[in-house]
Amino acid sequence: MTRESWTTRTGFILAAVGSAVGLGNVWRFPWMTAENGGSAFLVLYLGLVLLVGVPGLVAEFVIGRRSRRNPVGALSTLSGSDRWGLVGLLPVVTTVLLLSFYSVVGGWILRYFIASTTGAYFDAPGAYFDAVAFGPSAVGYHVVFLFATATIVLAGVRRGIEAATTVMVPAILVLLVGLAAWGTTLPGAGDGLTYFLSFDAAYLRENFFDVLGAATGQALFTLSVGAGTMVTYASYLGEDRSLPADSAVIAVFNTTVGVIAGLVVFPLLFAQGLPIGESGPGALFVSLATAFSTLPAGRYVAVVFFGVMTLAALSSSISMLELPVAYLVDEHGVDRRRATAGLAAVFLVSGSVNALRPAVFDVVASTLVDLLLSLGLLCFLLFAGWVLGAEALAEFREGTGSFAGSLGTPWLYVVGVALPVFLIFTVLTGVLGAVNVPLGSAAVGVLTAALAVAAFATLRRSRSVL
Ligand code: PFF
Repeated sequence: MTRESWTTRTGFILAAVGSAVGLGNVWRFPWMTAENGGSAFLVLYLGLVLLVGVPGLVAEFVIGRRSRRNPVGALSTLSGSDRWGLVGLLPVVTTVLLLSFYSVVGGWILRYFIASTTGAYFDAPGAYFDAVAFGPSAVGYHVVFLFATATIVLAGVRRGIEAATTVMVPAILVLLVGLAAWGTTLPGAGDGLTYFLSFDAAYLRENFFDVLGAATGQALFTLSVGAGTMVTYASYLGEDRSLPADSAVIAVFNTTVGVIAGLVVFPLLFAQGLPIGESGPGALFVSLATAFSTLPAGRYVAVVFFGVMTLAALSSSISMLELPVAYLVDEHGVDRRRATAGLAAVFLVSGSVNALRPAVFDVVASTLVDLLLSLGLLCFLLFAGWVLGAEALAEFREGTGSFAGSLGTPWLYVVGVALPVFLIFTVLTGVLGAVNVPLGSAAVGVLTAALAVAAFATLRRSRSVL
């Protein structure tokens, strides 16, 4: 059977933007920003999107289009070694974990969308969230969200994913701009914007490494980089257009949506004098629900807001499901429908664990996902830089003009050397922090250098251009 491909370049870009624009922009971003010192986080995060996210996105696209396979098949066929195929299983695991918690949050959003039409949470937003966030009814909404995700993926790359995101992404953008325009008219909105857009250098200096790790995780999360979903989407590219140009468009689009979402969320909360979410993932739901319940016409705005978030969540969750589906179809010859149904059954169970156990959810949704994305991206970058080498460069240049083409060699050094060193450092810091082993940053630096040199020496071979 021939492998599917996107109908148009725009279709591919919208699907990739759909994957990138999601709960990460609207829900995780304000929550992470609030936990990590507000505006200082924003600045670092924007820098990391540009310096780590975009070159990483290009690397995933290069691997995907070159191989026209899912991450496992891509790494094994391009390298000619089954051992790299094993490395490719990491993204499969990551997307399974990702969707397991994402689908629970998607379920929350869907519930709030429906509850906004009746005003069910208006009387007691805090008690409402506590009652519905975890437990059997959270499982119910997670299952509905998962079902919607699976229905789109089942219909295939063109008729499912491309058709859905071509409608969803423009709708998200238009509605969000409308909400932001409304947000700026709220009394006290100015304080929200000041908090969001000003820069706190002192906080950044004092907490640099903590903020750095969180901002790196968020930069990768928001661009859907490190999980292999972009490898998979690029594997359906038919024509050879410029991958760096597509990556730039996607990153600009995603960042714009993130900032616009901030322009909605922060004024909304500040106007009501509400906490921004210092107490974790659920607080934002409570704060927003409180804001909607007290504002004039709040119910209508809430319907639009949670409607936008539902679309954004769905356009991302389909990319998470598509990866393991592509793996089963490409590598094991499983029919798409069976693969989708079988995986939906797996997610039904793994998501339910997250919906029933808040402690599991908390670990998966922040620390674990951040680490896995950084680790996944590290593998893709080392692969592009040291295993593909000249081939990666050729693929980067395919379809580019002379300016973008000339960026190929610097890009290869960035993805092959600079970013792996940076990611080894952040992964080590994150792991040591998670297991409570306090090593100073100098010691982590030495360990990073040793590991990086060992990795480069092991991977260097005749095809390497580095
Ligand atoms: N980028 C998505 C968001 O911001 O919500 C989340 C995501 C999707 C992360 C797909 C990773 C991924 F592979």
